[in-house]
Amino acid sequence: MHPLVRLDAASAAPLAELARATFTDTYVGMGYYTRELVADYTAQSFAPERVAKELDDPGTSFFGVLVGDAIAAYVKVVDREPPDCVKPLRALYVERLYVARQYQRVGFGRRLLDAAFAEARARGLSHLWLSTWEENKAAVAYYHARGFTQAGEWPWIFESRGVRYVDRDLLFTIPVPY
Ligand SMILES: CC(C)(COP(=O)(O)OP(=O)(O)OC[C@H]1O[C@@H](n2cnc3c(N)ncnc32)[C@H](O)[C@@H]1OP(=O)(O)O)[C@@H](O)C(=O)NCCC(=O)NCCS
Repeated sequence: MHPLVRLDAASAAPLAELARATFTDTYVGMGYYTRELVADYTAQSFAPERVAKELDDPGTSFFGVLVGDAIAAYVKVVDREPPDCVKPLRALYVERLYVARQYQRVGFGRRLLDAAFAEARARGLSHLWLSTWEENKAAVAYYHARGFTQAGEWPWIFESRGVRYVDRDLLFTIPVPY
């Protein structure tokens, strides 16, 4: 069994690279996402120094599945104010759930969601919530298959090269099993 570990700032560089590669593999060619747009987004969001700060943030937890010494998949959960449709649930936000392309559909996502459930339980919370771009049909199907229900939607805003993009993200929730 590949170990599932809590990640700390020592993992910033490999984690940033896994995030960049997985985001690129997933989104280039989806909707209007060109390689240039995705490169801009990943350079901003997964800069190693930014990832290092997030790893040090006490409200944020990262868990990874290791294959040998490499991080093959990770989940990032964040203490974040939820939107109104989620607020009554006392839910933990799953901001990223990324499995490297070559390790998808072997159960790593499931194990990482279990780690997110455990973290929510440890924080005294009753649900997970997350949002995903409506165009990411595989992720939407995955969350439905895992038992999430759609709670609403919200705009997802991204700026690149002077252009402001506004997409529709779907919001999902799931109760923490006890
Ligand atoms: C979506 C993602 C997190 C799923 O994780 P994964 O490790 O590939 O999925 P798992 O192996 O845990 O799958 C568990 C179950 O879900 C099912 N499943 C996996 N992908 C699915 C899909 N696209 N549609 C429907 N069911 C799916 C599997 O068949 C499996 O079912 P089983 O255990 O009953 O056989 C992963 O594929 C990924 O990182 N994709 C790219 C990045 C991304 O889109 N992240 C989400 C952005 S919000």
